[in-house]
Amino acid sequence: MKRYRLAVCKGPDCRRNGSDAVFAAAKEAVEKAGAQARCEVYRGGCYGLCHLGPNVVVRENTGQKRDPLSREDFQLMGWPGETYYWAMTAEKMRRVVAEHVAADRPVPELAGDPSREEDFRQPAPAADER
Ligand code: FES
Repeated sequence: MKRYRLAVCKGPDCRRNGSDAVFAAAKEAVEKAGAQARCEVYRGGCYGLCHLGPNVVVRENTGQKRDPLSREDFQLMGWPGETYYWAMTAEKMRRVVAEHVAADRPVPELAGDPSREEDFRQPAPAADER
């Protein structure tokens, strides 16, 4: 079984959108799955993807030392084994822990793609609504 580092954004926008509850759900789900030894859960961010959050990054832990000032806590690195999850909720977080962390199966339908950020923008008001 793989080991993971799971980071929940602690930036102000993600927190305003519920990342504290996502973080609590992650900790609880990892504990419930008995995966504490395999999955480190911590607060990362801001990743600069504030309008897409709450954001969660799961990376395979290959044993490299984690530098608390590393860029990895503030941006996506594109590393093998890195999965970015966007628009997270506590319920989605429990699913990610159950499938990605506990069963080594990332959840592609919850994974984000910053190049699709327009999906999250509010529709422009119609001309007669301005
Ligand atoms: S506040 Fe979470 S990405 Fe900026």
